Amino acid sequence: MPQKSFYVTTPIYYVNDAPHIGHAYTSVAGDVITRWHRQHGESVIYLTGTDEHGTKVASKAEANDMAPQDWVDKLVAEHWKPVLETLNVANDDFIRTTQKRHRRGVQKFWEVLKEQGFVYQADYNGPYCVACEEFKLPGDLLEGEGDELICKVHGKPVQLLNEKNWFFKLQGFQEQLIEHYERHPTAIAPASAYNEVLSFIRSGLSDVSMSRESVDWGVRLPWDPEQVVYVWFDALLNYITAIGYGDSQAEDAFADIWPADIHLVGKDILRFHAVFWPAMLMAAGLPLPKQVFAHGWLLVGGEKMSKTKLTGIAPNQISDHFGVDAFRYYFMAAINFGADGSFSWEDMHDRYHADLANGLGNLASRSLAMVTKYFDGRVPQPGSYTNADLALQDELVEAVANADAAMLRLDFSTGIARVRGYVESVNGYITEQEPWKLAKDESKQTRLATVLYCVMESLRAIAVLYAAVMPEACERLWADIGASGKLSDQTIEQVDRWGQLEPGASVSKGPALFPRIDKVT
Ligand code: ME8
Ligand code: MG
Repeated sequence: MPQKSFYVTTPIYYVNDAPHIGHAYTSVAGDVITRWHRQHGESVIYLTGTDEHGTKVASKAEANDMAPQDWVDKLVAEHWKPVLETLNVANDDFIRTTQKRHRRGVQKFWEVLKEQGFVYQADYNGPYCVACEEFKLPGDLLEGEGDELICKVHGKPVQLLNEKNWFFKLQGFQEQLIEHYERHPTAIAPASAYNEVLSFIRSGLSDVSMSRESVDWGVRLPWDPEQVVYVWFDALLNYITAIGYGDSQAEDAFADIWPADIHLVGKDILRFHAVFWPAMLMAAGLPLPKQVFAHGWLLVGGEKMSKTKLTGIAPNQISDHFGVDAFRYYFMAAINFGADGSFSWEDMHDRYHADLANGLGNLASRSLAMVTKYFDGRVPQPGSYTNADLALQDELVEAVANADAAMLRLDFSTGIARVRGYVESVNGYITEQEPWKLAKDESKQTRLATVLYCVMESLRAIAVLYAAVMPEACERLWADIGASGKLSDQTIEQVDRWGQLEPGASVSKGPALFPRIDKVT
């Protein structure tokens, strides 16, 4: 039987505005996971996209004097798709909730739930936050001026709705959800997110509106066209409509891909993904995602960076200055995935120089320079290995095992630190072996060849190990060291098999991988 595809998703982002580095952060993380699993020889499907319905998007379009469809088309074409190119994200598909495949799937899904008795009509009298697109619970609100209620997340007044809506019977899934999570303790990660969700479910679930009466911009309910599907109960379905749910031609493809292996989300939307979504899937009789991973927030002045609050930094502001690979490296290496983190130009500048310009970049350029100078630009033939050489090989084996375990549990900063540790070891090895001294002694030519072969072999492994995080720089490095075959065909399983680089291959010493950069003032 063919292996099931490994399926990774990001949230689909609201197109009320252009992306900032918070969205880029999730999309890059998903890309790193995708590339890492591909390097395990797995077939991976990586999905991202845009959430285009709802009040928040419709009012932004109106404020710009545009029809909602024109507005979302423009933002997707000019910002949301291009940012993926900028970030070098290798997504396989891009779903938009205004696409026919999605709208059709949403209607089918709710039709099924309605037929099975999971949907009923009732009045909703209560608060709604447009910025969150969320029916709010009493604990989510603060008192404002007069009788105004303020949403804790965006600090904005909420609307008080009085609508005749259709409700989804969420309450009935409380016990089943608890049981599921007790049986699958890694279905929500990190552990803090797991605990938060379980205590929320245990505190009691209520039924929730699945439609909106006063909203036009959405997917109409098939049985009540006066209403549209509440935007979250439309958006969550993207994870299945993108892979063929609701398309009778695509049932096999759907069964091959679903369930998702990882839904990556920010912790702001954990509840939707770990409570509503699995309950919807249970109601529909579909398997549940293997894991929802809630990462932390990028903060500005201690608060979540946000489109609504206009505190976003555009990804290309950073990547134009430091390069795309450095952008990807920084966010994955500097922030513990799962915890909050702050971006600062200062910190980025320092890490760029320490880890990339002076670390990996310098290792590559001095090694290539020596092979060019002492061996006429050809990978030398090694002689017999000394203890120091064997120790370096052992260290690689250990670094790969540690990095792999960390990357597979989405602990990117640890995974990267393991590879960086190996880069440091290779630099240390060069300092100890002093190839420039060996070069001066005719009788030490074989030893010189062995030392430089070890260094080049190490660079081969580093190119493979960093390829998921820094695809462009690693392609360059791969070509510069004269490695044969495609970098994308190299597997993590094989990376520590010593001796793959062929003696005699031509190296080339191009411009620096990570040139030094002046400080932004
Ligand atoms: O919530 N730090 O869309 P959204 C880290 N459409 N990540 C951040 C971030 C920050 N400061 N700001 C945004 C929605 N993100 C819904 C999702 S899914 C079925 C529907 C990232 O445009 C993070 O992944 O508000 C967060 O969860 C997501 O963008 C929210 O994007
Ligand atoms: Mg948001």
